Amino acid sequence: MLIDGYGRKVDYLRVSVTERCNFRCQYCMPEKPFSWVPKENLLSYEDLFKFIKVAIDEGITKVRITGGEPLLREGLDEFIKMIYDYKNDIDLALTTNGFLLPKVAQKLKDAGLKRINVSLDSMKPDVAAKIAQKNVLETVLKGIQAADDAGLKIKINCVPIQGINDGDLLEVLDFCKDKGYPIRFIEFMENQHAKDGAKGLNSDAIKKIVSQKYEKFDEVPRDTSSPAQYYAIEGGYQFGIIEPHKDDFCAACNRIRLTAEGFLIPCLYFEDAMSIKDAVRANKVDEAAAILKKVLETKPEKNKWSDKDDNETSTRAFYETGG
Ligand code: GTP
Ligand code: 5AD
Ligand code: SF4
Repeated sequence: MLIDGYGRKVDYLRVSVTERCNFRCQYCMPEKPFSWVPKENLLSYEDLFKFIKVAIDEGITKVRITGGEPLLREGLDEFIKMIYDYKNDIDLALTTNGFLLPKVAQKLKDAGLKRINVSLDSMKPDVAAKIAQKNVLETVLKGIQAADDAGLKIKINCVPIQGINDGDLLEVLDFCKDKGYPIRFIEFMENQHAKDGAKGLNSDAIKKIVSQKYEKFDEVPRDTSSPAQYYAIEGGYQFGIIEPHKDDFCAACNRIRLTAEGFLIPCLYFEDAMSIKDAVRANKVDEAAAILKKVLETKPEKNKWSDKDDNETSTRAFYETGG
């Protein structure tokens, strides 16, 4: 079992396979970064897999593939199959913007993928295009349908941004409610790579919008391994809100992140990281396990979005860590 310095059990590994993305979401990567990591600095799937095996052997039970946009990296289905074949009861999931799903959803499911989380910020093509800086909505909706048809479990992520998609939240909620997909509204996490001046909606503002249509909603007892607080509305449908600005958000954090370059990141907010690249390239799995444990010791108690001074912003790029 993996336990961090604050006694939290860590059983969830998020693996970013690329920082590249085919969208330019305002809250994440409004301009293309000045330079991408050169290909030779990326860990191969074989090397990423060497670390994943170590992590699973140490107690990881949930692996989520992220990016950038993970479907941009070729052969992802084979990578998923490697993990599935090693331990088929791993909760194996993917976070994607959905644009490439129409072509690959079935292949991913066949490889052993169980779940996907897809970003959907508006049901209006022009608003979605404004956020992603590309005409994306029609293809993303087809991608979600393809994933559903393939039998993948689906969750939707939506980041409300003031003056952009705050008028669209009910429409996105109703789409998800009709389809039976859980939706999580995520409070925008201020970071230096987002568009200047972008401002998110906090949880109270989101709830106020939902209550315009659904007057009554009940807090669902919290599943400690989920970053979201869920609320039940009519018909038993539940929507969630992820509140990184709340003090207690981090108390049950069970995550650790691996970047495509081999950096192990103990917290989404901070720049701290240690590399497992040399260890896995040299097949030194014991060394990789030791680095994993060292990183867990440095996992901070909480992020700083929760600081009351609301100017707190992170320098970490979300496209390196997949949120
Ligand atoms: P499930 O396994 O379905 O619960 O997925 P998930 O919520 O862990 O994964 P997803 O990639 O959909 O994450 C949703 C978003 O929640 C992330 O992109 C972040 O924005 C936020 N989030 C997840 N983990 C953390 C965390 O450790 N810290 C902070 N601040 N935000 C997080
Ligand atoms: N704040 C909140 N959520 C973010 N995401 C990306 N950047 C941010 C941010 N700055 C979310 C996206 C995606 C998930 C991986 O992370 O909506 O669904
Ligand atoms: Fe790409 Fe996801 Fe960042 Fe949007 S949030 S730019 S889809 S990595």
